[in-house]
Amino acid sequence: MKLKIAVLPGDGIGPEISVQGVKTLDAVAKRFGDEFTYTYALCGAAAIDAVGDPFPAETLKVCQEADAVLFSAVGHPKFDNNPEAKVRPEQGLLAMRKQLGLFANIRPVETFKCLLHKSPLRAELVEGADFVCIRELTGGMYFGEKLEGTEKAYDTNLYTRPEVERILRVAYDYARRRRNHLTVVDKANVLASSRLWRKVAQEMAPQYPDVKTDYMYVDNAAMRLIQDPKFFDVMVTENTFGDILTDEASVISGSMGLLPSASVGEDTPVFEPIHGSWPEAAGKNIANPLAQILSAAMLLEYFGLAEQGAAIRKAVAASLEEGAVTPDIDPKSTGTTESVGQWIADYILSH
Ligand code: IPM
Ligand code: MN
Repeated sequence: MKLKIAVLPGDGIGPEISVQGVKTLDAVAKRFGDEFTYTYALCGAAAIDAVGDPFPAETLKVCQEADAVLFSAVGHPKFDNNPEAKVRPEQGLLAMRKQLGLFANIRPVETFKCLLHKSPLRAELVEGADFVCIRELTGGMYFGEKLEGTEKAYDTNLYTRPEVERILRVAYDYARRRRNHLTVVDKANVLASSRLWRKVAQEMAPQYPDVKTDYMYVDNAAMRLIQDPKFFDVMVTENTFGDILTDEASVISGSMGLLPSASVGEDTPVFEPIHGSWPEAAGKNIANPLAQILSAAMLLEYFGLAEQGAAIRKAVAASLEEGAVTPDIDPKSTGTTESVGQWIADYILSH
């Protein structure tokens, strides 16, 4: 298959892991006879420094003209502790999501047997946990009306019925392809927006009689995730709750450096690691490239290239089994971002 891929390396460790993602895709193309072409574009702090805008119009155009976006990370410490900053790298990510209409963020959480000891939870709780968080990505407090005064500030958690319906449809479709269990996470005991979510979900549930729908308050879900992660199959929730719960969920697997995500919606889909830009590690060749590499697998699977996706997943599993990993996974390992990426590419080419 021919695919045009927009590559947005961004900031911090982004550029280094991006190289490994592209290297993996090139190995797949060679091994399976696909043709992937890449167009690079700026975003985040790198784009602010270059053109004063974290998501320039030129980058939007590159994304719109591509079949998929391989995104890495944005964020820079020089903006973090400066509440006065007028533009922030993160705005680039939010602009990309909004302008491409990426309303559904799919974050699968899987555990790897050889990493169970890395989980902050006991192995018996974690082993076999396998669920997908579906986070609404273009609504809620992130995008609702805001006031930012010195004495008063607010963010509006606005959701409309069509926004809730379309994300629930995505969630139900996932549940149908998995273990037919959907948990709708909200705060309907307090928030009006959550009551709309729950109402819409209760109306839609009968259309999916094969799926067991249950409802959980977000505080309870935060607890359940660490008490009994195997309870979950597909979880769906609003933007802010999803942001928080997916960070929590990501450490269950033992390393945040392993989890990819897909953001899909109206325009070009984006595939990105769920971890951030880890500025302290930038340029040190120590960042784990696996979440980026698995994002490339999600990208290929999105286009129906199941065999190619599986080849990447097999290579990643083998690298973990054989200890070809970065120090976040095994502190004694001498593996680097570059060497792990190369190991994966070589594995794909030789299997
Ligand atoms: C994420 C990130 C972003 C978010 C930030 C960087 C704006 O934390 O993708 O989860 O809050 O959505
Ligand atoms: Mn987040």
